[in-house]
Amino acid sequence: MDAHNGQDQEVNPWEVKGDANGKIDYEKLQKKFGCSRLTQDLVARIEKLTGRPAHLLLRRGVFYAHRDLEELLNAYEKGEPFYLYTGRGPSSEALHLGHLIPFQFTKWLQDAFNVPLVIQITDDEKRLWRNLSADEAYRLGKENVKDIIACGFDPEKTFIFSDYDYMGGMFYRNIIEISAAVTMSTRKAIFGFSFDSNIGQMSFPAVQAAPCFPTSFPHMFGTRKAIRCLIPCAIDQDPYFRMTRDVAPKLGYIKPALIESSFFPALQGEGGKMSASDPNSAIFVTDTAPQIKKKINKFAFSGGGADADEQREKGANLDVDVSWKYLQFFLDDDEELKKIGEQYGSGSMMTGKVKARLIEVLQKLVAQHQEYRAKVTADVVERFTSPRKMDNLFAGLKLVGES
Ligand code: TRP
Repeated sequence: MDAHNGQDQEVNPWEVKGDANGKIDYEKLQKKFGCSRLTQDLVARIEKLTGRPAHLLLRRGVFYAHRDLEELLNAYEKGEPFYLYTGRGPSSEALHLGHLIPFQFTKWLQDAFNVPLVIQITDDEKRLWRNLSADEAYRLGKENVKDIIACGFDPEKTFIFSDYDYMGGMFYRNIIEISAAVTMSTRKAIFGFSFDSNIGQMSFPAVQAAPCFPTSFPHMFGTRKAIRCLIPCAIDQDPYFRMTRDVAPKLGYIKPALIESSFFPALQGEGGKMSASDPNSAIFVTDTAPQIKKKINKFAFSGGGADADEQREKGANLDVDVSWKYLQFFLDDDEELKKIGEQYGSGSMMTGKVKARLIEVLQKLVAQHQEYRAKVTADVVERFTSPRKMDNLFAGLKLVGES
C-alpha cells in the first residue's frame, strides 16, 4: 500500500482504479507488469522501417510500453511477416473516443506495415463479467463492429470475429491447448482468484489468448506456426498476454509482441471514469456537433485560472487540463500543439480559446466517423466477418533492402 495516499492503484482487464486521487502511475504499472518502456529510439526505428512519420500517439508517448517490439521489428526487417491482433469487449452500444484510440492506431499500423489484422469481439467475455444477456452482448458486438470498420481497415487483410460465432475449429482447439497448459495457480498469480467467480471467468483468458496463435485462423495463415503476432492494446490487457507469452513456447509458438497505451481520460479529468451510462463523462461517436460543443464547454475539466485575470497572471495547469490532454490525442499538428501549450500554460491564451479549437477538431473527427459508419452496410460487414480464404496476405510487403 502506498504510504502517502492510503490507496494502491489496481489495474487488471476488468478493473482500472487509480490511487486516492484517481491518478494512475503509469511508470509504476509498466514496471510492475514487467513490460519495457517504448523509447523514442524505437519510434525512430518504426519510422525508418515504414518510411512514414510516426503516428501522433507514438510521437507523444500515449503508446508508451511494449514487449518484444524490438525483436518483432528486427524480424520484420529481415523479411519475416507478422500479423496484428486487437479486440473489443462489447459493453456498450456507442463507442466513445477512448474506445476509438486503439483502433485508429491499429489502422495506422496496418497501413504502415501492410500486414493482416484480426479483431476479436469478446461478446462471451462481457456476458461472463457484465450484467448482460447473451443476446444483448452479441447484439452490441454486431453494432460495435460497424464502428470498428468505420475506422478504415483494409477488407482484403482484415478478419473481424465474434467469439460466439467463430468458436469451433482450430480456434477452439487452441483454446483447449492453452487451457490444458495453464494451471489454477498460474491463473491465480496473474489474475487473482475468488471462489465467487463463475467458472467461465476462470477459463476465459484462454479465449483471449488463442488469437495470438496464427493457426487459429487457417483461412488466413493455413497451418503455419511461425508467424509473429503484434498486439496494440491498452495496458490493462497486459495480464492476458503475459499468460499467453508463458504458454506460447510450450505449444510451439512465438511469444506475441505488445505495444501498450495509457488510458484516455474522462471529461471530468483523470480521476473520472468514462461510462456509457453517464453521457456527460465522454464524447461518443454518436454525438452531434452541438452536443460536442456543449460537453466540452460545460464538462471538460479546466486547469486554467478561475477568471481571465488569474489565468493571465498564473497560466493554466496543463497537467490536469482535459482539453489540453484531448488535443494531444487528436490534434496532429505538432507546431500548433506546442504553441497552444506554451501560450495556454503561460497565461496568454484563455481556456475558451483552447476549448474552441478542441471542439473544432472533435466535431470534424466525429462527423467523419459518422459519414464512414453510414457507409458500412450489411454487405460490408459480411466482407470483414466471413471466414473467407484470404490469399496473398503477405504479398506486396515492401521491406527495407528490397527493390
Ligand atoms: N478484453 C478486451 C476488452 O474488454 C477485448 C479484447 C479481446 C482485446 N482481445 C483483445 C483488446 C486484444 C486488445 C487486444 O475490451
